[in-house]
Amino acid sequence: MADEEIHKGLAGVVVDYTAVSKVNAETNSLLYRGYPVPELVANCSFEEVAYLLWHGELPDSAQAARFSAEERAQRALDPAVRQVIDALPASAHPMDVVRTAVSFIGASDQRAGDASPEANLAKALTLFAKLPAIVSYDQRRRRGQELVPPREDLGYSANFLWMSFGEEPDPVVEKAFDASMILYAEHSFNASTFTARVITSTLSDLSSAVVGAIGALKGPLHGGANEAVMHTFDEIGTAGRAAEWLDEALAGKRKIMGFGHRVYKNGDSRVPTMKAALDTLIEKYEAQELLDLYDALEAAMASRKNIKPNLDYPSGPAYHLIGYDTEQFTPLFVASRVTGWTAHIIEQLASNSLIRPLSAYNGPAERHVPVKERV
Ligand code: SDX
Repeated sequence: MADEEIHKGLAGVVVDYTAVSKVNAETNSLLYRGYPVPELVANCSFEEVAYLLWHGELPDSAQAARFSAEERAQRALDPAVRQVIDALPASAHPMDVVRTAVSFIGASDQRAGDASPEANLAKALTLFAKLPAIVSYDQRRRRGQELVPPREDLGYSANFLWMSFGEEPDPVVEKAFDASMILYAEHSFNASTFTARVITSTLSDLSSAVVGAIGALKGPLHGGANEAVMHTFDEIGTAGRAAEWLDEALAGKRKIMGFGHRVYKNGDSRVPTMKAALDTLIEKYEAQELLDLYDALEAAMASRKNIKPNLDYPSGPAYHLIGYDTEQFTPLFVASRVTGWTAHIIEQLASNSLIRPLSAYNGPAERHVPVKERV
């Protein structure tokens, strides 16, 4: 075997600098451009956080007004994008619908060949503005419901919920949803963000990098976990069955979705903030049984493997209570993380180096093709 040191999964490997966010496993904390994320959730809207991730500073009132006007003007689902979505069968996973719609938007964008920071910021804003319409419309078409056009008099999250459910959201629901969008927005070099950076490092375009990132996020070890958490709850059924279910699952070497993290080894810093948001929804919808199941599985996991929940664990039930179909949970993650992905794409381009690691060969030693006897 080769004597090179292998870093499987790039675990623990620092590959570059980033100024976008700091994930600190030692202090179990997360900063977006230097601001503690719980403070951003308590004091800012997701629109303001998107601006912060892209521009490095929170917007002043004039900047916020201009940014909001630009975003609100682009919210409508273009008829051509609607046709692309309608061409996909109901059996297509919502993540495949989002990936296809984003690819179509990128292919149709007149700015596709312009990789300047200004053009990429504009493309990022377009995706930020349009993803709520894509996700909302895909859920409604599967339910046999009509498209709900956007409203420019509502903030980002209120409009997202308006387009999804056809009614103005209760302030409790809007606040919990907006909190989830802020918490999901950015997390340094996670698998989907690093995918976007690898694609960008070849000087490919922003749309290709976002499409690749969506592909990476779909996996249940990454963004797909929030959908899988709800499937787990459905499988367990009641709090009383959680311990028995977990014993069987662990005996079968199953990964328990919504638990564990590559970086945080003592619990995901975002969980307390998202759990507080979930608690407001549990109170509003009187979902005590769901809370009992949530607590029972967490307690059972703590006593068996001491592996703590990650952000997907409280987010899944929150989206369920808000009314989203389970398969739409990861597309909601896309709508949020597109801000972090595009901030990293722009940062990668600003000081680019082609990302191309080495490998240690452990195949057959050199050998030669037997020359056929020429007859
Ligand atoms: C996200 O990177 C990011 O920042 C991602 C993210 C973001 O914001 O972008 O935070 C979003 O992806 C959160 C993670 C969502 N994924 C899940 O919830 C899926 C379940 N989690 C596991 O698959 C796992 O915890 C990972 C993949 C998240 C992290 O795993 P690691 O760091 O590769 O660790 P590992 O798989 O090598 O596990 C170490 C040990 C193993 O036990 P042994 O084989 O050594 O006995 O811990 C066990 C694992 O079996 N383990 C689990 C487990 N997580 C780790 N066992 C059961 N269930 C789990 N969830």
